[in-house]
Amino acid sequence: MGVKLGILGLGTVGTGTVQLLQDGAGRHPLLQEIEIYRVGVRSLDKPRAVELSTEVLTTDIEAIVNDPAVDIVVEVMGGLEPARSLILKALSNGKHVVTANKAAIARFGAEIFTTANQAGVYVMLEAAVGGGIPVIQPLKQSLSVNRIHTVTGIVNGTTNYILTRMQTEGSNFSDVLADAQRLGYAEADPTADVDGLDAADKIAILASLGFGGRINLQDVYTEGIRQVSKTDIAYAEKLGFVIKLLAIAKRNPPSSALSVRVHPTLVPQAHPLASINGVYNAILVEGEPIGQVMFFGPGAGAGATASAVTSDILNLVAVLKTNTAIPNPLLACGHQEYCQIAPMAELITRFYARFLTNDQPGVIGKLGTCFGNYGVSLESIVQTGFQGELAEIVVVTHDVPEGNFRQALAEIRNLSAIESIPSLLRVL
Ligand code: NAP
Ligand code: HSE
Repeated sequence: MGVKLGILGLGTVGTGTVQLLQDGAGRHPLLQEIEIYRVGVRSLDKPRAVELSTEVLTTDIEAIVNDPAVDIVVEVMGGLEPARSLILKALSNGKHVVTANKAAIARFGAEIFTTANQAGVYVMLEAAVGGGIPVIQPLKQSLSVNRIHTVTGIVNGTTNYILTRMQTEGSNFSDVLADAQRLGYAEADPTADVDGLDAADKIAILASLGFGGRINLQDVYTEGIRQVSKTDIAYAEKLGFVIKLLAIAKRNPPSSALSVRVHPTLVPQAHPLASINGVYNAILVEGEPIGQVMFFGPGAGAGATASAVTSDILNLVAVLKTNTAIPNPLLACGHQEYCQIAPMAELITRFYARFLTNDQPGVIGKLGTCFGNYGVSLESIVQTGFQGELAEIVVVTHDVPEGNFRQALAEIRNLSAIESIPSLLRVL
């Protein structure tokens, strides 16, 4: 007997998944066991890139999750509601769920996984982070014997594309964003991508898997790329860095608290993440005893995401075929506790700061004194340019608690010679 899929959504990901399933030759033989039983959409009148019978295509998405014949619900409609309610209903009805919806998982993961555990079914989400890149299953299974120290990712293709073009062309953020929207690389409403919210959802999911606890999304410090200027990209390059939007989850020994954050970051040019350009994604996992392992690939797109969604479906088909009644702890979500997240003031990191100052004697000395007052040690300080009458001074610090750095900055802002501090970025 075939395994019946109820697919919610036939957009980019849904269409890619149906195309993959309809073209099984040369792929895993278990795909032959799958029947595309129902596909739920908003409109029956839209032209579709795949052929489905009128019996399969429906606008009654509630009926799909309530249909006893459906074995697996594939939620690829996106958004928070009705996606959340439909996932919960499908799970309560004893159906396994595959989802690509990082926004719903990052916000409602606790109730979704609790419901799945109670119903003895699985929620699979490989496509939710990194598109086609296998990173969820590796964290859950292949790497799970490691003590994970750090997960660092470039997990948003839109912002990586924008930053890459700003770097290679010396262009402004707003010009590249407008062009990316025209070319279809950035959405008409780019907020979730450029303000770091999409990356925050994704690092919350990765942190939860890597560190074995739930993550409260509100605890994820999130800064986007709107304030990254071509001036800073040029200075970063001179200093041996590229600027990337990084999503980072890190354990900060000796405390057991994690730091989980998204922000533009100066990455040393020799670092493995520095060469990840364009719409590509990469996730670097560091742990003991494995050391470093990096996952790289296409973070979005119909085919890539379909690969991840369908591999989740295949895992569930194997579960259904082998008829294992005992939940597999490597597929189920095993943690209920929330991870403790350290305040940003406790983060130890390097900083890059750019100051516009009056061009007068002693300014660099005064900056150095303020930093010294709060234990901030400087790695480099350069004055290479002018903006009109004002001198431009760029500073890179050694590792320092963020709280100390901010106290020093507050004192520096009060110096009469300081006109403004246009940029402040963290350094990996
Ligand atoms: P999309 O192209 O906008 O497609 C959404 C689909 O869901 C459409 O077919 C739409 O129906 C249907 N839909 C939405 N709301 C509905 C409702 N209330 N009732 C019935 N049908 C509804 O979205 P997508 O790009 O495929 O993304 C889907 C999910 O995958 C999202 O969670 C997204 O974050 C995630 N994801 C996407 C990518 C990517 O590359 N696009 C990569 C990774 C993860 P109509 O066709 O009738 O409008
Ligand atoms: N909007 C996302 C990105 C793609 O730009 O990476 C889906 O996760």
